[in-house]
Amino acid sequence: MILSIVAYGDPVLRKKAEDISEDYPKLDKLIENMFETMYEARGVGLAAPQVGLPIRLFIVDATPFAEGEDAEPAAEGFKRVFINPIIFEETGEEWPFEEGCLSIPNIREEVKRKSNLKIEYYDENWELYEEELDGVLARVVQHEYDHIEGVLFTDKLSPLRRTLLKGKLADITKGNVDVAYKMKFPKQKRR
Ligand code: NI
Repeated sequence: MILSIVAYGDPVLRKKAEDISEDYPKLDKLIENMFETMYEARGVGLAAPQVGLPIRLFIVDATPFAEGEDAEPAAEGFKRVFINPIIFEETGEEWPFEEGCLSIPNIREEVKRKSNLKIEYYDENWELYEEELDGVLARVVQHEYDHIEGVLFTDKLSPLRRTLLKGKLADITKGNVDVAYKMKFPKQKRR
């Protein structure tokens, strides 16, 4: 089932999300729906707050980064479910990379983040993993992890860039945006 993706301006995107337990209701179905929703929207990651749930869960499929120019071979098949994750180390130089977000359609901006991270998380079978990531894989995980902390990539831009984007962001909140997937806009007027 395709879920509505919550747009910029919805308070759920600003909550620090909560851990879940193994008896969280219908978790398998939720994860399945999140993948369906992410693929439909052509995203490489989707966090639970983006479908209205303030819980510490996000999914990633970085495979599109294994194709085209600047292809990253390690991205092929990098499909993961992250439950109750903890990034416990971030190292390396900050590097710029153009990010977008399914909750902030049609805006892409360069964001600087550290190149390497270590993360601990449970997968969909509640197996505990520890993983080291770098490059674009670290990047996707850092972006999604920010979502469960209530942080959006636009928070990381310079004050000038943020000022320049203000009008566009306000339009997204109101639903004045062209988008090909199902969204829920916090300030959309009824028609
Ligand atoms: Ni995002």
